[in-house]
Amino acid sequence: MEFDILFETIMTDQWPEIDAQYLKAIEANDLATARKLVNDAAGVVITSSGIDRDGAHSPSDPDNGAPAYDLTLGGTYPKDVYSFEGSRYYSTGEDAMDRTAYSILMSLKDHPNNPVKIYRATEKTATGGIKPGEWVTIVRAYAVDHGRNTLKNDYRIFSKTVAARDIYTSGDSWLEWGYHPQKFFPPIIRRDFTTKEIMPLSKRYGHFNNPVNESIGDIGVIEKIQMDIARDCPCSRSYDHGIKHWQRVERNGLKIAEKNGADEDVIRLFAYLHDCKRENEYTDPLHGPRAAAYARKIRDTLPINDEQFKKLLKALTYHTSENYNDDPTVAACFDADRLDLGRVGITPDPDLLNTDEGKRIATEMMNHE
Ligand SMILES: [Fe+2]
Ligand SMILES: [Fe+2]
Repeated sequence: MEFDILFETIMTDQWPEIDAQYLKAIEANDLATARKLVNDAAGVVITSSGIDRDGAHSPSDPDNGAPAYDLTLGGTYPKDVYSFEGSRYYSTGEDAMDRTAYSILMSLKDHPNNPVKIYRATEKTATGGIKPGEWVTIVRAYAVDHGRNTLKNDYRIFSKTVAARDIYTSGDSWLEWGYHPQKFFPPIIRRDFTTKEIMPLSKRYGHFNNPVNESIGDIGVIEKIQMDIARDCPCSRSYDHGIKHWQRVERNGLKIAEKNGADEDVIRLFAYLHDCKRENEYTDPLHGPRAAAYARKIRDTLPINDEQFKKLLKALTYHTSENYNDDPTVAACFDADRLDLGRVGITPDPDLLNTDEGKRIATEMMNHE
């Protein structure tokens, strides 16, 4: 059964306007506007992690500050912060540290997913590293100063590599940041695999407009679980690994099950779970094991027995690292996912599939190329 998930959706008649604004922003190289449009369409919500109120003042957060990839957001810094004289206009008086901070910030501009190293000086006995909501700095020497002076030399320094979207400044000093980790931001530009043209946002995210299926009131237990997974999953709107892909995996899997007797419930849960813990769209080899860990977490809600659950875990854990499995259900899961490689421009290779039906469908696809 096919249905769509109730998100806060953009109405169908809004897409032409959104597409026009987006393509115009790309053309004008206005990446800040394009980023906002992409995030809104993808349903990215920026969240604050709560605040460490120990210090004399509280660290900045997304509600009252700007992220390291755009200091001007919300008017936190004026636009000329990125001008030739920006470093001088907003200097903190610490020349060497300002130079380091400023060059880091210039390299992060418009790149929310770029890595940045953060530091925090704490009492020597502290454990646990840097936690969300805490004060951090992007200049190690600044943390050292804090340790020597405020902590009276009884200190240690924690460090961590995060993304530019994870730290926020109030605009008082680019040496001081609040740490508020965010989910991965979708890329600003995606190109169509065949035409190589920039995809309008309606094509990437417009399918979330489809009205929710009328019969939603009396759907089965598995459908309800599938909807919960989608609601819980940051990438469910993704073009490559989101719900449209999951629905195709489910369909492929059920087709294979008709022939090889694979367990349909396991397939249907696999389809919705296997990519739900992806952290990015490119390389994320551990998303399979992460999906299995999530399945364990929601084990109580899954209407399958232990034998079935074992198969589900096996399929989730190994769906990216292994090609073959002797169990017909696990094999059907692997094949169902691989048969959908067409969406990323790859024709599935029949030799890499497990089941006769999978091989047959893949061969048919090859002949239709
Ligand atoms: Fe996957
Ligand atoms: Fe997948």
